[in-house]
Amino acid sequence: MLYVVLAVFILLGLGTFFVAMRGGPRGASDSLHVEGGMGEHLVTLGIVALVVFGLAVPAFVLADNGDHKASVAVGGVRLTKDEIKGRELFAHACTVCHTLAAVKSVGRIGPNLDVLLPTIPTLEQRKAFVLSTILEGPALGKGNMPADLYVGKEAEDVAEFVAAVAGH
Ligand code: HEC
Repeated sequence: MLYVVLAVFILLGLGTFFVAMRGGPRGASDSLHVEGGMGEHLVTLGIVALVVFGLAVPAFVLADNGDHKASVAVGGVRLTKDEIKGRELFAHACTVCHTLAAVKSVGRIGPNLDVLLPTIPTLEQRKAFVLSTILEGPALGKGNMPADLYVGKEAEDVAEFVAAVAGH
């Protein structure tokens, strides 16, 4: 998508440059061998269309990006509002110790969650596993993961986020 837009832009730029080099609309119509006022109007119309399109396309791309960036995690997973919150919380408290590609973290004190989570079959089970880890500590009880980094809704948001993105 982005490359298509870039290609269109480059073509628009070249077109405008060509017209400018030929001395504006009149020059362009001359060089296109179009006679009289009609051709000039057409060229002017073309330039107006180029300008409008040139403004519309970047506006569209900007709006498009603004809408998507926040809700698409690395790996292309679309996040819910809760998961976006969970990503924020995870980035704040969990990344020092855990690797998770979706937040580009490379912690090595705890297990790599991109490797560990996919060994659990369903999304629901993954979420429950992360949630119980946050609330009650790791199942094996060794290691030194701090207890209760989050509780309640925050713990759930983190668990939902990790379950959704781990391994992607
Ligand atoms: C200070 C380092 C540290 C922080 C911060 C930390 N963890 Fe851990 N985590 C660990 C360690 C160490 C283990 C492995 C413990 C074990 O195997 O007994 C672990 C294990 C886990 C496990 C696997 C549990 C299991 O039973 O195997 C999950 C899931 C997890 N952490 C999620 C999180 C989340 C989510 C956060 C943020 C709320 C977090 N961790 C913050 C160190 C940390």
